[in-house]
Amino acid sequence: GGLITPTSLTAYRALPRALLAVSRETGNIEWVEDDVPVGELQNVLARHGLVSEGVDIVELKLGEFLMPGFIDTHIHASQVPNIGSGQQHELLDWLSEVTFPMEARFADPGFAKRAYTTIIKRTIDYGSTTCCYYGTLHSQGTKVLADVIHNYGQRAFVGKCDMDRNSPDYYIEPSPQASIAATRDIIAHIRSFPPAQGTTEPLVRPILTPRFAISCTSELLSELGKLASSDPSLAIQTHISEKESEVVFTKQLFPASSLPLGETLKGKTHDTTYAGVYDAFGLLRQNTILAHAVHLEEAEVDIIKARRAGVSHCPTSNFNLRSGCARIGMLLDRGVKVGLGTDVSGGFSPSILTAVQHASMASKVVAMRASSPPPHTHFTDRQLSVPTLLYLATLGGAEVCDLQSRIGSLAPGKAFDALVVSIRSDAGNPAVWGADLDEELGVRGSGGEPGDEGGRGKTDVEELEGLLERFLFCGDDRNVRRVYVQGKLIGGKEFRS
Ligand code: GUN
Ligand code: FE
Repeated sequence: GGLITPTSLTAYRALPRALLAVSRETGNIEWVEDDVPVGELQNVLARHGLVSEGVDIVELKLGEFLMPGFIDTHIHASQVPNIGSGQQHELLDWLSEVTFPMEARFADPGFAKRAYTTIIKRTIDYGSTTCCYYGTLHSQGTKVLADVIHNYGQRAFVGKCDMDRNSPDYYIEPSPQASIAATRDIIAHIRSFPPAQGTTEPLVRPILTPRFAISCTSELLSELGKLASSDPSLAIQTHISEKESEVVFTKQLFPASSLPLGETLKGKTHDTTYAGVYDAFGLLRQNTILAHAVHLEEAEVDIIKARRAGVSHCPTSNFNLRSGCARIGMLLDRGVKVGLGTDVSGGFSPSILTAVQHASMASKVVAMRASSPPPHTHFTDRQLSVPTLLYLATLGGAEVCDLQSRIGSLAPGKAFDALVVSIRSDAGNPAVWGADLDEELGVRGSGGEPGDEGGRGKTDVEELEGLLERFLFCGDDRNVRRVYVQGKLIGGKEFRS
């Protein structure tokens, strides 16, 4: 059936009659045939040394297509119960009024188990095959989160929040040593999970999670930096430059004279920047995920690019907490890796589709504010196109997680982390005009040439491109019919466990 997969920031492949083979043993994609004519199936299988008795054939219907699963590069699993509450706040008030009281409840492992069990099911059914999760500061509760994800079979990074200052008495770690001990404990727990069936790689990975610079003492950041340098495979996630007041406070807490002399600072007098703080503690590298990056200074963009760290763009949250519009086009032109994040519950939706829609709107706001895009740039101050939005939601996210060799597109050798999407009226989402209705009304083409009668004339490729755009802008979880991770069906509207 139909298959869509990103190839670059500006292009994707739309294949109306593709055949994609997944190994039962490994869950990896074996091969993809671009265009299999009706009646040629046996011959194509034979060419790959297969007979139809030895394979399960899944045929997609009109209005359905296969695409890579979404990658949510920033989500607080423990904040899902707060979705849609406290929408009047800005960042720092929202943390103390709304966020910390809910996160504190995850001290109770029973509460954590009940909450995470429904939360993870939801993110899977919305089509996120990989998520970068923040738990809470509790190692026990965050172990429960990792267990739940492991049992569902989602791919994920899971970290407990490190926070030993500027947090309320009832929700703070007593010392940097306690924070590090709890961090080591959760890492060891996650690393004890067996790899996915037929592969040597784990689906759930640990990630260092200093909540943000404000909530960490220098001693804690320094110990986390040491832990990171002792293990280059350990990913790191944190927040950066989300709100002006946060940036001001961060610079007050970490004057340049207080910082260890890291690479960037050596031999220079250097004003502190937010990115400079993380860099001084060795926390910026190719597997670091920086959420928000709304108010970055020029020099910070250079540091992030030089360290090959990635940015998680969280536009729903950035609008909702009135943080600002990140200049994603500028970051792309500068060669910074970018993916999308829901940032639940700063963002009020666990769906990457909502993040796609708001990423489009945020880019339009940036474009409207700018007098004109600078010459010799591709993305700066321009709206993000459909291919770019698709890329950010999939392959861009994979790059940010440093997993681009394994996930993010439907290519041979990669894991089969994929969605079957339906833009049919029977999917039950009235916001999306069904492809089956299009055909009934004659507004859908059938491979005709431009200028054909009756409004027909779109090629099959253009039809499929149209379905993708409708899904991205009007779709929701009802259109996500099947969700696969590492070849295994784990969710979606048609899934029955
Ligand atoms: N900065 C520090 N903690 C948080 C959080 O939980 N959400 C958001 N959006 N920003 C933060
Ligand atoms: Fe966040």
